[in-house]
Amino acid sequence: MTSPTDVARRTAGRVRRIIFTREQIAGRVRELGNEISACYDPREELLVLGLLKGSFMFVADLVRCIHHPVQVDFIVTSSYGTGMVSSGNVQLLYDPGVSLRGRHVILVDDIIDSGRTMASLVPIIRARGPASLELCTFLHKRRDGIAHEPRWVGFDAPPEFVVGYGLDYSENFRHLPYIASI
Ligand code: IMP
Ligand code: MG
Repeated sequence: MTSPTDVARRTAGRVRRIIFTREQIAGRVRELGNEISACYDPREELLVLGLLKGSFMFVADLVRCIHHPVQVDFIVTSSYGTGMVSSGNVQLLYDPGVSLRGRHVILVDDIIDSGRTMASLVPIIRARGPASLELCTFLHKRRDGIAHEPRWVGFDAPPEFVVGYGLDYSENFRHLPYIASI
């Protein structure tokens, strides 16, 4: 599945090293689904709110591993542009029509780096009156001074720029079924 030839072909030779294989990812996402399911009453209305585009693959896998009824929606924020440094200025480009009032919302992101995206988003979501709001991120760079620590983390990420499994560099590499550094 992840032979050196396959990696070279899919990435035009630009990937340096695979950090998490698709098998590791699948196993961890299953665990996360169990952890999340155990934290909610099955009668509670769960709403998984994914941040596009980075979380699309993670959300798709994660909701299939949650054992309760769950609704799925997405929000689109602008932040990174095409570079590797977060601007920290989050704007909502797409806003779900669904009411968040009284819902149990899980905000899902692909990776927390500086934490600024979540720091700007959490107050916006909270202002809409959800019954509860928790954060789940696939990767966490574990930097200091994060405003809102996520309740669920897939993996701790190395302090490198990583791509794959939804994460991009200039819109490339989102399709990779593994996490790699470039
Ligand atoms: P933060 O606001 O610094 O926490 O950055 C979060 C967002 O930046 C994520 O949702 C990603 O879209 C992007 N990002 C941060 N680090 C990386 C990385 O290593 N690879 C790809 N995208 C990243
Ligand atoms: Mg991104």
